[in-house]
Amino acid sequence: MTETPSAKPPVLMLMRNPSPWALDDLATRYTLLSEPAPGIEVVITGGTEGIDAATIDRLPDLKLIAVCAVGYDQTDVAHAHARGAEVTNTPDVLTDDVADLAIGLMIATARRIPAMDRYVRGGRWVRDGAAPLATRFSGRRIGILGLGRIGRAIAWRAVPFALEIAYHARSERRDVPWRYEADPVALAASVDVLVVATAGGAGTAGLVDRAVLDALGPDGMLINIARGSVVDEAALVAALAEGRLGSAGLDVFADEPNVPQALLAMENVVLMPHMGSATRQTRAAMAQLVIDNVDAFFAGRPLLTPVPRGN
Ligand code: GLV
Ligand code: GLV
Repeated sequence: MTETPSAKPPVLMLMRNPSPWALDDLATRYTLLSEPAPGIEVVITGGTEGIDAATIDRLPDLKLIAVCAVGYDQTDVAHAHARGAEVTNTPDVLTDDVADLAIGLMIATARRIPAMDRYVRGGRWVRDGAAPLATRFSGRRIGILGLGRIGRAIAWRAVPFALEIAYHARSERRDVPWRYEADPVALAASVDVLVVATAGGAGTAGLVDRAVLDALGPDGMLINIARGSVVDEAALVAALAEGRLGSAGLDVFADEPNVPQALLAMENVVLMPHMGSATRQTRAAMAQLVIDNVDAFFAGRPLLTPVPRGN
């Protein structure tokens, strides 16, 4: 007896590097396409790739954009919602990994681990003897900019290291024991390490500007595991070059994968290629959450992680 295979609904795949196993799994139920077309109800995209209004408008039947990232600043969510489509992201599953990386960057930057590694590999230990001294991390004062899931996870991890933890968010949070600062400049002025953990997008663009960097000061450290757009990158490069800021640990940049040339030569800067959530375990969990959202949509079940309207 021959069974007529039911037509597999089309799904537009805009992620540049989807996991092979996720693609294989999706392909058992959906026809994966790479160009917008009528009839496509579901799009899968990455945080960096996103989807803009013009592409959304080439999808007259669009119902769901599943973003494989927690940050959806490259997706025109307002436009999708206005068009009646839902957007999902991948919160929670990546919180621990991003918070781990923030702590790792703080220690790597203070103790200059990558520079020390280069020192050993370059034969300088043998040639020149002891390396230059690093800076203590334990007991420094930490300020967290943005107290969402990731900001909180960083704060809890910082407790055993830090003398004092403070934060800035749009409003004071009553359920945490940390000091609130209503003004980012005041926060920066009162800490040694400022960690950027806000969402990206228009609301936070350039929040870390020259005034914040100058308040952090020549012994201060900036850590960014959020979005490059939150930091005025030209002001950051200038502050580091002029010694007005002590050091930086950066996982994200304004124009990825392009990193300002000046940063590449600085020994007091630790650079990562946007890897906050990039462990095998978390990337698998993110892909599975994307798949679960897509399956829920086609089965008529509630989406697992919809981005609320008005966000
Ligand atoms: C998500 O769907 C992925 O392919 O990684
Ligand atoms: C990564 O940057 C993400 O938003 O998930």
